[in-house]
Amino acid sequence: MDAHLHEWLNLLLRWIHFIVGVAWIGASFYFNWLENNLDRRPPQEDGIAGNLWAVHGGGFYHLKKFSTGPDTLPSPLHWFKWEAYTTWLSGFSLLVVVYYVNARAWLIDPAVMALEPWQGIAVGVGAVLGSWFVYDALCRALRARPVALALAVFAWFALLAFVLANLLSGRAAYIHVGAAIGTVMVANVFFVIIPAQKEMVAALAERRALDPATGENGLLRSRHNNYLTLPVLFTMISSHFPSTYGNAHGWLVLVLLSVTGVAVRHYFNVRHRGNRLAWILPLAFLAMVGIMIMTAPKPVTGGARVSDAEMLSIMTSRCATCHAANPGQAGFTAPPKGIELDTLDKIRAQRDAINQVTVVTHTMPIGNLTGMLPEERDTVGRWIQAQKP
Ligand code: HEC
Repeated sequence: MDAHLHEWLNLLLRWIHFIVGVAWIGASFYFNWLENNLDRRPPQEDGIAGNLWAVHGGGFYHLKKFSTGPDTLPSPLHWFKWEAYTTWLSGFSLLVVVYYVNARAWLIDPAVMALEPWQGIAVGVGAVLGSWFVYDALCRALRARPVALALAVFAWFALLAFVLANLLSGRAAYIHVGAAIGTVMVANVFFVIIPAQKEMVAALAERRALDPATGENGLLRSRHNNYLTLPVLFTMISSHFPSTYGNAHGWLVLVLLSVTGVAVRHYFNVRHRGNRLAWILPLAFLAMVGIMIMTAPKPVTGGARVSDAEMLSIMTSRCATCHAANPGQAGFTAPPKGIELDTLDKIRAQRDAINQVTVVTHTMPIGNLTGMLPEERDTVGRWIQAQKP
């Protein structure tokens, strides 16, 4: 695909994905907050379970939640589903445009596993769609045991992170775990939550009693979605943080960050019942510090002095094919992230970033397209070390 067109397709899809994702998660956070903050103290109006006053933007709002439902079907009745569906559609398109169109650069890392692009794509798509079937089967098998179910779902995604980290590039592994979780969340909306709401509306229209199991199942799936949001949001921004996905135990870093996110979500879910679980927040902070220490770079020591000419020669052959004003690498029309590595001054200015992506982690050269050797990483590390005052 033409590189410029590719970049703009990426831009358009990413912008849309971000907007609809905000609308979806925002609405979901809002309704969750509403449910937790309803004033349920008696007296309430007939048939009302709770109500809530709010002030926002231009005025006062008064919301009511019905114990069962209104007597007649109101019109218009607003549904919240397209936010979720469009998030999935734009996200999957983005996955194709970024990771599958240029699979050798973004999806595959020959140092992890020398897959052909079609094999990498099969692994990626299989992980994303397969996760829904595994998750749904777990929900059916363990419906009566919510804690065991939550642990089983968690174990599945941890296993997926481990397996993908051993098949794809670190960055692609993270985004595919995120895409798999996101797919489960959207499929929950499409296959369970919305059908349960349709059933509720139909029961109301036909004035018949509703099977309580319908609502309970929908509620369980929405609760899962709620806990999965923080981990999924992290994976979506993870590509900015090479020290996470580029770590030798990148999958474990993702698992630990996800546990932290789920714990924080839990605190916000139960906060309205008092601050009994406030200790979660400082503990989550300590966990983040622990993960930061775990992913810290190890200092490079010893070895012969590296000359400037040697460093420049490595950067020129391994990096500047992309990182130059006019990249020679097919598919690149501008230096990625504006980083140029074709003169010693520019290399010196970027030395910390270079150290992070080539020595501490091996996320550059991307897909190791220029075939950088392990000895060269070592050499780069020693040159950078010697620059430190
Ligand atoms: C095949 C093209 C290519 C080659 C070769 C390449 N890079 Fe990159 N580099 C990229 C792309 C694309 C990005 C932007 C990644 C993104 O959007 O997150 C990037 C980003 C970076 C960043 C910014 C990382 C961040 O997350 O902010 C640094 C630093 C970097 N490269 C250094 C290097 C070094 C050092 C080399 C040589 C050892 C190198 N690159 C080789 C394509 C390349």
